[in-house]
Amino acid sequence: MTETHFYEPSRGHRLPHDPFKAIVAPRPIGWISTRDRGGRVNLAPYSFFNAFCDDPPIVGFSSQGRKDSLRNAEESGEFVANLATRALAEAVNLSSAPVARGVDEMAMAGLTPAPCRLVAAPRVGESPAALECKVIRVVRLADMHGEETSNFLVLGQVVGVHIDPAYLKDGLFDMTMARTIARCGYRGDYAEVDHLFEMVRPQSG
Ligand SMILES: Cc1cc2nc3c(=O)[nH]c(=O)nc-3n(C[C@H](O)[C@H](O)[C@H](O)COP(=O)(O)O)c2cc1C
Repeated sequence: MTETHFYEPSRGHRLPHDPFKAIVAPRPIGWISTRDRGGRVNLAPYSFFNAFCDDPPIVGFSSQGRKDSLRNAEESGEFVANLATRALAEAVNLSSAPVARGVDEMAMAGLTPAPCRLVAAPRVGESPAALECKVIRVVRLADMHGEETSNFLVLGQVVGVHIDPAYLKDGLFDMTMARTIARCGYRGDYAEVDHLFEMVRPQSG
């Protein structure tokens, strides 16, 4: 067996760039829209984002430091996770600009705020799907020694789902038509869902 390039993250990876995010990839992107206490809209992409269960549906995103999305989610108890797609990729990227709190990145990126039903934050009108979420809990992540880090995981229960009917084919959400994008390895790397393959799970017994 060939010897692996083994490293302990706490001691350095000995590579030109940290490979961690190229290994845990592709990561779905939660394109998070929120409102602050004053009602101002905020939008930003989070790829430390995923679903953790589907009954009830629970998703989470993690903020490195106390960013606006985290603060607004804490204040309002709500957020929306919009689907990031190839057609919206440039807008996704634009909305990650480090702008002052209160600046509306949805407007900045030329996107249309569309009303939600159960949360006050708007969804991205151009996105093929959006999840309206109520915050369950914000967890400040601690390391294995119990030392608090500056990462905050926002967990939310999906209370409403929007799907653009143009992306429903025979009642199934067509992610190859949506061209969902995901975050990959290094600085500017993304993946795009352009084909799927199918495998049926083995039956028990
Ligand atoms: C595709 C993509 C994924 C990102 N994922 C994260 C993430 O998971 N956590 C994080 O803290 N920042 C992430 N960022 C950076 C934030 O989007 C950026 O800091 C943004 O300004 C935060 O906005 P906010 O303060 O309005 O929430 C990501 C950026 C991009 C382009």
